[in-house]
Amino acid sequence: MKILGIESSCDETGIAIYDTEHGLIADQLYSQIELHAQYGGVVPELASRDHVRKIVPLIQQACQEANLQLKDLDAVAYTAGPGLVGALLVGACVGKSLAWALDLPAIEVHHMEGHLLAPLLETDKPEFPFLCLLVSGGHTLLVDVQSLGDYKILGDTLDDAAGEAFDKTAKLLGLPYPGGRYIAELAAQGDATRFKFPRPMMNRPGLDFSFSGLKTHTRVAWEKAQDDCKNEAETQQLKADIAACFQLAVVDTLTKKCLRAIKQTGHQELVISGGVSANIALRETLAVMGQKHRFKSYFPSMKYCSDNGAMIAFAGAMRFTHKVTAQNALIKAYPRWS
Ligand code: KG4
Ligand code: ZN
Repeated sequence: MKILGIESSCDETGIAIYDTEHGLIADQLYSQIELHAQYGGVVPELASRDHVRKIVPLIQQACQEANLQLKDLDAVAYTAGPGLVGALLVGACVGKSLAWALDLPAIEVHHMEGHLLAPLLETDKPEFPFLCLLVSGGHTLLVDVQSLGDYKILGDTLDDAAGEAFDKTAKLLGLPYPGGRYIAELAAQGDATRFKFPRPMMNRPGLDFSFSGLKTHTRVAWEKAQDDCKNEAETQQLKADIAACFQLAVVDTLTKKCLRAIKQTGHQELVISGGVSANIALRETLAVMGQKHRFKSYFPSMKYCSDNGAMIAFAGAMRFTHKVTAQNALIKAYPRWS
């Protein structure tokens, strides 16, 4: 079976083809980051227009890459939500219309399920059931994954998502958008012991998160300490130290909550996915923690941490082959989808 996957929920147009026998046979990605960076965040209308411009050429390129024609496909999967409504509608219209024209099933994929299943694209992959930490720009979720489609949310953020906290802190420090990777780069040169930042929600029971207090704490610390800097070199060092302290607080909070969830559920396999799973400090901390507490962590490869078509094609293929897919005659997008 060959499944075309379409991702257009935010600022990446991702098109891929997953073959249930041969794995990923095409993977095309166009990132709009440069377009939005000048505005310091994603501009929804510009995102929709850029998806319109790129989506069909990318589908053609994916077919060329896989050396097949549209008529060779067996199903079309697309991200139906959550995300920016205009951006989602581009993928939904193209996906649904293509499926209709080719007389193929159309599969609506939940963007976060795409992230959740992305580590299964790797050779060393987890088996169901497992625990999953989903950390992206819009979500911070701890999920008990029993099998395909059987997901129980154990923890959620009460305010900002982890990636959002990275992005806002990056903006505060004058770093480009999206700031997660710039904070990580800067943190590598900083002293994470210079300030003691709070570990939000750690002294409360449960598995929920909250990052907005940490964000405010970071802002106050940065503004206060900046006044004491005598020259540019000191300001730069302070910036790196703030980034390091912030990152350590986020990583510490995320990893300790994972450990708490592992103890609570008894899972021995932990999957970490979504844009923030590209964070090296997070990966390293979990690897060390896993050795000590006897659990194994699985991450997607770097290119599948952020939004991409491969994870949608794969999630579509899983749903299609396991017949966990509902047919819907309408073209629908769900900007908020639980
Ligand atoms: O999954 P994703 O590409 O898009 C959403 O579905 O939201 O996640 C994007 C988020 C952004 O907030 C970005 O700053 C963050 O992932 N991110 C990182 C790193 N790389 C990307 N955060 C921390 N460290 C990184 N290395
Ligand atoms: Zn995403």
